[in-house]
Amino acid sequence: MKRRVGTGAAPGKVILFGEHAVVYGRPAIAAALGTGLGATVEADATGPVLRIPAWGRGGQQVRLESAGGSFESISRAFAVALTQVGLISAEARQVAVTVDGGIPPGVGLGSSAAFSVAVLRALFDYAGHPASPQTVLAAAMEMERVFHGTPSGLDHTIVTHGGCARFQRGQAPTFESTFESLPVGRPLTLVVSWSPRELTTRGVVARLRERRERYPLPFERLFDAIGEVTREGQVALSNGDLEQLGLLFDHNHGLLSALGVSTLANEQLVSLSRRGGAYGAKLTGAGGGGAVLALMPEERCSSLVSTFEREGFKAFATTIEATP
Ligand code: PMV
Repeated sequence: MKRRVGTGAAPGKVILFGEHAVVYGRPAIAAALGTGLGATVEADATGPVLRIPAWGRGGQQVRLESAGGSFESISRAFAVALTQVGLISAEARQVAVTVDGGIPPGVGLGSSAAFSVAVLRALFDYAGHPASPQTVLAAAMEMERVFHGTPSGLDHTIVTHGGCARFQRGQAPTFESTFESLPVGRPLTLVVSWSPRELTTRGVVARLRERRERYPLPFERLFDAIGEVTREGQVALSNGDLEQLGLLFDHNHGLLSALGVSTLANEQLVSLSRRGGAYGAKLTGAGGGGAVLALMPEERCSSLVSTFEREGFKAFATTIEATP
């Protein structure tokens, strides 16, 4: 018996260490944000309809195969979600899904993963099928493939489990990823700032893949170095050593610049962060524009947020709580 309303939610995320290298089998560390997306599903005879008012998509009727422009991957991912939940027939698809919340789209804060997991949870709830985390993870991976091409799986895994965790993509022969919750010795106060992206995650990852295929050795060396920074970051995180974490943020950012994924805008955000008193700063997510993280002494956060706003950027302060 179907329920009339289904609901689901999922947080956004920040990658603290290891983006890009994680696609090539090195470890990464990410943390769920305190803010995210919520989804509500209701019966609607005109469905399937997807509404994302916060992203400027009032009540667009999703045409599953033919939506154009920037809506295309969202609507294709939505179609995948309906299928994954078993809503196959035209009648079963008579639903309206509304997504709302505080994650800006496409800047590296896990918007596509939060969208995927929140929508899946709401659809499973609506359909009256209890879904295990493994079921949600497998279905979200299919949606993330639509958004990102060859995702490592880090984003939707952290967004499904929450907390702060280390993720390593599975390698041959089993391809089983590992995911381990990590202790955080001291709360981390972060200022997250962003500029619009010049390329999508899919585009940045694809460009890096091409360059790495042409010049495997220098890129493998950079991935190894990022892996090493991530391992040291895990220790500093557990010890609550903010100074060392800041230094490692800076090193990780330098290595990401060397990979070629940082833009002028990313560099400007990193530099404003450092001048604003950060222990350290790095881009987070795919780069090509998008978000930058500054690890901050708490008392300097609000002045840094004001600086970003004065310079025409968006920013907010957030805390990753300590966990045993
Ligand atoms: O920018 P985001 O939030 O889509 O994160 C991408 C992270 C990468 O490591 C660059 C890609 C991946 O699949 O892990």
